Amino acid sequence: MTLSPVFINFTYIISAILFIYGLKMLGHPDTARRGNLLSAIGMFIAIVVTLFAQEIIRFEYIIGAMLAGAIIGALAARLVAMTSMPEMVALFNGSGGAASLLVGWAVLYDELLPSAGSAADGVLGTAGLAAGASTFTLITVILSILIGGVTASGSVIAYAKLAEKMTSAAIVFSGQRIVNSLILLGIVVSAVMFTMDPAIGSTWFWVLLGLSLLLGVMAVIPIGGADMPVVISLLNSYSGLAACAAGFAIENNLLIVAGSTVGAAGIILTNIMCKAMNRSLANVLFSGFGAVKQASKVEGEVKPINVDDAYLILESASSVVFVPGYGMAVAQAQHVVRELGELLEKNGCEVNFAIHPVAGRMPGHMNVLLAEANVPYEQLVEMDDINPRLPNTDVAIVIGANDVVNPAAREDENSPIYGMPIINVDHARTVFVLKRSMGSGFSGVDNPLFFGENTRMLFGDAKQSISGLVAAFKS
Ligand code: TAP
Repeated sequence: MTLSPVFINFTYIISAILFIYGLKMLGHPDTARRGNLLSAIGMFIAIVVTLFAQEIIRFEYIIGAMLAGAIIGALAARLVAMTSMPEMVALFNGSGGAASLLVGWAVLYDELLPSAGSAADGVLGTAGLAAGASTFTLITVILSILIGGVTASGSVIAYAKLAEKMTSAAIVFSGQRIVNSLILLGIVVSAVMFTMDPAIGSTWFWVLLGLSLLLGVMAVIPIGGADMPVVISLLNSYSGLAACAAGFAIENNLLIVAGSTVGAAGIILTNIMCKAMNRSLANVLFSGFGAVKQASKVEGEVKPINVDDAYLILESASSVVFVPGYGMAVAQAQHVVRELGELLEKNGCEVNFAIHPVAGRMPGHMNVLLAEANVPYEQLVEMDDINPRLPNTDVAIVIGANDVVNPAAREDENSPIYGMPIINVDHARTVFVLKRSMGSGFSGVDNPLFFGENTRMLFGDAKQSISGLVAAFKS
C-alpha cells in the first residue's frame, strides 16, 4: 500500500496533538491515566502509518521485536517494585539513547556513505558522501550518535548507582574537569574531521563513538546522593534530543516532534527539581554531591515513644499533617495511612498530607502511592503551602521521610543538603518520626530533627506502627 505524503503528515499531526494533549493530562492525577492512554494511541497510529509509509515488505522481524518489547514492558510494569522505578526509568532512557545511536549509525552506513553494504567487496574506506546525501543530514546523524551515546552510557551508570551495583556516592578526582574538557575537545575534533572526510571504517568515526560513550560515563560519575533524580530527568531530556536528531536524520517529522517534546519535558522537570533542591543545574552537574562538604556532628537526646502513648496524643489532636517519604513506599504503608487519616477525621481532626517534590525516589512518587490508596486529592498539600500552616499544627507524623524534613538543610551551612527547601515539621507542636532506626536517608546526612525537643521517635516498620495506631483508634 502506498500512502500519500499529505496523508502521512496529516496522521503525524494527529499523533503529535495526541502526544501533547496526553502529556498535559499527565499533569493531574484525575486525568493522568487517560492522558497516558491518549499518548499511547497517538504512538500506535504513528507506528502503523510509518510502517506502511516505508513500504516495508517483510514484517516478521518488526512484529517479533514489538512482541518482545511488549512482553518486557508488561513484565517490567508488573514485577518492578515501585521503589525501583527510577532504575527502570534510567534503563528506559538508556534504551532510547541507544536506539537513536543505532538509527544514526544505520543511516550513515545505509544511505550517506557510498560504499554502504559493500564491505565484502573490499571497498572499505571510500571517502566522501554518496550522491544526493547532504552534509546537513550527516551532521544530524553525528548528533544522534553523539547524544545517543552519551545518554546510553550515562543511563547505564545512573542505573548502576541507583540499583547500588556501584557506589551511589559522587566519584570525584583532581583534574576531572580537565579530563572532561579534553574528552569534549576530542569529540568536537573527531566530529569535524569525520564530517570533512566521511568514510566507512574511518578512525575518526570510532573515536567519536568511543568518546561519546566515555563522556556519558564521566558526566554521571561525579553526581551522587540526592542529586540522582535530577540526572535521571536530564538523561530523559537527552534521550529526547537524540531522538529529535535521529528524526532529522531519517527525515521523519513525527520523530522530530516527539523527540523535542521529550527533550523539553525532561528539561522542564530537571528545572523544577533543581528549584526544589535550591540548586542550579551547573551546581548539580559539576559540584559532586556531598563530596566536599562535611555536615556538623548531630548530638542530643532521643525520645522514643510507643504506639499506646502516640495514640493518646493523636486522640486529642485537632490538626495532623502526615509527611510521607521513601520509607512509606518501602513499608507499603499507604493504605493503613489512609485508614488512620479517616479515623482521625472521624475524631474531629483536620488531616492533611504534605508532599515534598523530591520525597521518595521519583517525581510524584508520594502522589502516586497516596492516589493508589484513594487518599482524597484535596488533602495533598504542597511544601510551600503547608509550611506556613505547620506552627499551628498539633502533630506532624513523618512516615519514613528523612532528607525532606532535615532541618540541617535550613540551618547547617556545612551540610551537603544546605539550601534544599524542606517541610518544616520541627515547627509543629509535636513531631512523630516513624522509622526503623537512627539511620540516615538517601543523602547519607544525619538528621538533627530526631533529637528535637518536640520530636518523638516511633521506631519500627511504618506499616506496623500505623496499623497499631489504627487498631488503638478502633478499640
Ligand atoms: P530518605 O531521606 O531516603 O529517607 C527514607 C527513610 O525511610 C530512611 O531514613 C529509613 O530509615 C526510612 N525507612 C525505610 N524503610 C522503612 C520502613 N519499612 N518503615 C519505616 N521507615 C523506613 O527519604 P525522603 O525523605 O523521602 O527523601 C528522598 C531522598 O531521595 C532525597 O534525598 C531525594 O533527593 C532523594 N531522591 C529523590 C528522588 C525523587 S525524584 N523523589 C529520586 C531519587 C532520590 P530507617 O532505615 O531507619 O527505617
